[in-house]
Amino acid sequence: MASYLLLGKEMQEKPTINLGLEGVYFSESRIAMIDGINGRLYYCGYSIASLAENSTYEETCYLILHGRLPTSEELEKFSAMMKSFRDLPDGIIRLIKEMARNTVPMDTLRTAISALPAYQSNKYENPEEENFAESVNIISKSASIIAAIERFRNGQDYIKPNASLGHAANFLYMLKGSPPDEKHSKILDVMMILHAEHGSNASTFTSIAAASTLSDLYSAITAGISALKGPLHGGADEAALRMLYAIGKPENTAKYIDDALSGKKRIMGFGHRIYKTYDPRARIIKKYLEELENDANGEVRKLAKIEMEAEKIMIDKLGKQKGIWPNVDFFSGPVYISLGISKEIFTPLFAASRSVGWCAHVIEYWKNNRLIRPLDYYTGSIDLEYLPISERR
Ligand code: SDX
Repeated sequence: MASYLLLGKEMQEKPTINLGLEGVYFSESRIAMIDGINGRLYYCGYSIASLAENSTYEETCYLILHGRLPTSEELEKFSAMMKSFRDLPDGIIRLIKEMARNTVPMDTLRTAISALPAYQSNKYENPEEENFAESVNIISKSASIIAAIERFRNGQDYIKPNASLGHAANFLYMLKGSPPDEKHSKILDVMMILHAEHGSNASTFTSIAAASTLSDLYSAITAGISALKGPLHGGADEAALRMLYAIGKPENTAKYIDDALSGKKRIMGFGHRIYKTYDPRARIIKKYLEELENDANGEVRKLAKIEMEAEKIMIDKLGKQKGIWPNVDFFSGPVYISLGISKEIFTPLFAASRSVGWCAHVIEYWKNNRLIRPLDYYTGSIDLEYLPISERR
């Protein structure tokens, strides 16, 4: 009878291997509740629909970091703190300028975030105060870094932040150099709320794993950005838009999807490890896309038509029987395009929005820290004889 060695103990059957840690609970959290069967998402008890409808990104950041909504004085103080951290040190601006035209924006964002500690001189009373302040610094500066990346990529100069604008509006101002219209600022604010937090997704888990060694917050967030970049995760928003351009016209959609599925290719923006029904965030984004469609240019209208076609086809083919439905990344592209945001900075913008979720989970995990160290099941040989190289054939 074969026996298996696990932690030095003889076992009679092979241990269960949960590939991708699927279905494995590794901690408790009070930040996000995701109901993948009924398509519900709550941040600290508030439904994503109520936050998208009523809140702002700043207020949602306060909620995710503190676990409760702020009073008006607390929100005013928090927003002022966000604004105080917006501007970038000259050294970071130089670094971004140097990198922006030679690499992809996610790499420049990751590098700029990891360089921030070199320009921090604040002293804090205690670790809690330091973790909170550094979180706000990362959340605030990541938006400014992305605006700077895009400006330098297009051969333009850095635009300093505008303290009279909220977080989302200021991002559009730093991107374009002119105050954005109300509607665009509101839509971007909602998009940032929708992307702010989502439990122990791959990038949040990566940040927590890095933090569990008692490394620092900037290293943990840099790790999170690295994980988000992949097209199976945050990179899907740009990949989904590229797919729409590849489809080209609504009448090509069915054939494109058939060919992709028969070639075992993934349709970007669909499917989810947790949601086996419509991602509630995708529903909200689709509503804004339908709103934008009327006053959008011909390109956005065409992209939206392809998306509605793809959605119908995918739900018919894979929705009911395989639980593959639109996710948060599917409708985002055309919405961002209509806000004047280029596809190359979709995923960096996802990272900037998600930075609050990463920071909040790292701080929460540190309160009951346990080094993350899972097992892999060794299937190789043991006790092989070491042959001198002269005898190896
Ligand atoms: C995000 O975790 C989070 O919370 C993430 C996120 C967040 O806010 O942090 O919600 C953000 O990352 C959303 C997901 C963005 N990614 C994509 O849109 C990329 C395309 N989707 C997939 O590759 C896939 O759906 C995943 C990776 C998202 C989830 O896949 P799982 O849970 O690992 O499922 P799987 O790969 O095992 O697929 C199961 C079956 C397979 O078919 P069979 O081999 O069983 O025949 O479903 C098929 C897959 O081929 N499938 C798809 C598909 N997704 C799954 N087939 C076609 N197109 C797809 N998109």
